[in-house]
Amino acid sequence: MIRHERLRSWIQEIEQLCRPDQVYWCDGTKEEYDRLIAQTIANGSSIPLKKRPNSVLFRSHPSDVARVEDRTYISTRDRDDAGPTNNWAEPGELKAVMKDLYRGCMKGRTMYVIPFSMGPIGSPIAKIGIEITDSPYVVCNMHIMTRVGTKVMDILGSDGEFIPCLHSVGAPIEPGQQDAAWPCAPMEKKYISHFPEENLIWSYGSGYGGNALLGKKCLALRIASAMARREGWMAEHMLILRLTNPEGRQFHIAAAFPSACGKTNLAMIQPTIKGWKCETIGDDIAWMKIGPDGRLYAINPEAGFFGVAPGTSYNSNPMAMDTLRENIIFTNCALTDNGDIWWEGMDGEPPAHTVDWKGRDWNPDSTDPAAHPNARFTAPAGQCPIICSDWEKPEGVPIDILIFGGRRAGVVPLVNEAFNWDHGVFLGATASSETTAANIGDIGNLRRDPFAMKPFCGYNMGEYFQHWLDMGDRLGENAPRIFYVNWFRKNGQGKFLWPGFSENSRILKWMCERVEGKAGARKTAIGLQPDEGGLDLTGLNIPAEGMKALLAVDPEAWKAEIPSLEEHFAQFGGRLPERVKKQLDELKVRLGAYASTARESA
Ligand code: GTP
Ligand code: SPV
Ligand code: MN
Repeated sequence: MIRHERLRSWIQEIEQLCRPDQVYWCDGTKEEYDRLIAQTIANGSSIPLKKRPNSVLFRSHPSDVARVEDRTYISTRDRDDAGPTNNWAEPGELKAVMKDLYRGCMKGRTMYVIPFSMGPIGSPIAKIGIEITDSPYVVCNMHIMTRVGTKVMDILGSDGEFIPCLHSVGAPIEPGQQDAAWPCAPMEKKYISHFPEENLIWSYGSGYGGNALLGKKCLALRIASAMARREGWMAEHMLILRLTNPEGRQFHIAAAFPSACGKTNLAMIQPTIKGWKCETIGDDIAWMKIGPDGRLYAINPEAGFFGVAPGTSYNSNPMAMDTLRENIIFTNCALTDNGDIWWEGMDGEPPAHTVDWKGRDWNPDSTDPAAHPNARFTAPAGQCPIICSDWEKPEGVPIDILIFGGRRAGVVPLVNEAFNWDHGVFLGATASSETTAANIGDIGNLRRDPFAMKPFCGYNMGEYFQHWLDMGDRLGENAPRIFYVNWFRKNGQGKFLWPGFSENSRILKWMCERVEGKAGARKTAIGLQPDEGGLDLTGLNIPAEGMKALLAVDPEAWKAEIPSLEEHFAQFGGRLPERVKKQLDELKVRLGAYASTARESA
């Protein structure tokens, strides 16, 4: 019997609306996980992997392979409160449309109720969600990605706060009808909706990743970012790692890169520089609060990694590979003849034959990739060989360094440091990146992705910039240092100039030395850069002209960015903080692109 009145009546209401055959309360046990996985194997929606104990492969419907930003809504009474970077719909209208879709949508299915905690259960920073879903795939993934179970119900008690998260794949089963291997609704019926004014999430029509595992992007970023602003903390699209230098000093780093731009890889970095050690705390989301000592403390609200599979190898990310040995859900990877998974970029030669993510025969001459570019693994974080012993510390770890970045073939150098907090906020606010397969839409399109939060900010982005300024004001001298990186600069032949991955440790080392006051920097128009010889390149074979090209700040190329920066800022109108606008003016002065102001301020 459910003691929680509000929860009980919400479950009843949804049951009456969605009309499932039965309602099942998840207890979060291994027995439950094993039973549900066994069911998906039995009904043909997943394939057990001979080579990896307790691991399965799911293949999604070809139309349901990633987040759908076009179908993702921030629904507030006032359109301006969602802001220009979000899709908006009026809450009453959106709910009416979605209620029609939800009506009877779980016929022939089980409705699962998943009590989960984002953050260690009982931590003062943690939040409780209840996800209703009709997808066993979602239940199993939530088991790995969050803390699910009866303990959550105990904490909830009879009147605790929870965030209701409603999800349906949107595919009722009519009597006599055979279920699909991956049920979902067509694109125009998919809705990933957020009602931040009432901390409510409604998702319909997709079974994939961030669209369906509602604790992740929907709760821990979109709803949490709006709560964080109201309550004075931060919910960010950031990895968290601990770096220890040869003297044993620890540095905690949080870094925001857009989807499929290197967070999981950096979170598990194996430094190539002698004596430096990395431990992983989180790979996608950071919740950060100011602690009693005035510093910024971060926790990872998740319990697992939902990581990009293609490109992951012993060469690029050995710690991820070792995390993936057992107890993994793979989605949209290729299946090898000996019962293992495979994807593009894995170590060694491609297999002579696989079954691709669509279930078709594949060989190295095939024109399509064997794994979908957004194929993913779901892995328990505790299985990572370098998981930090403090990764579940309820109060989090104190952040020394914040990094922003993106995927840019040109213009943006390997690294630069912000002059100060306001300039750092400007670097975050103007971050840009080429779009990736993590969202259904154009790939390789350059866009502004402020703080890597464009798809995830649950309120007006202009006010989000102001929130960053406010946090800096509160942190004062305790504020982390801010840097901007681009691992993805290319040469004229389209090849990456920087080897990336474990070699990125060289850049992290410079950042730590900056924090310690050991490393110098020279001023450029866009920020501070390593002095000549300031980066430790010992043992790295990059020609001098390559390093020059990596760090180059071309004033003409930067001047050419200004119209796009102005357009970006203009969309926020009166909600763009003056202090952020001032940063753009100062950049123009430094670039000599703004002669009149240069004279005025001289
Ligand atoms: P989401 O889970 O979508 O948020 O992605 P993410 O930011 O965690 O990105 P991830 O670390 O999974 O990397 C995405 C892709 O970028 C993979 O194919 C990686 O191999 C590639 N990548 C990561 N780091 C580097 C790097 O330093 N250099 C290069 N060239 N590629 C990288
Ligand atoms: C991202 O797209 O940033 C992801 C994957 O981390 S998803 O969970 O699908 O949002
Ligand atoms: Mn992500």
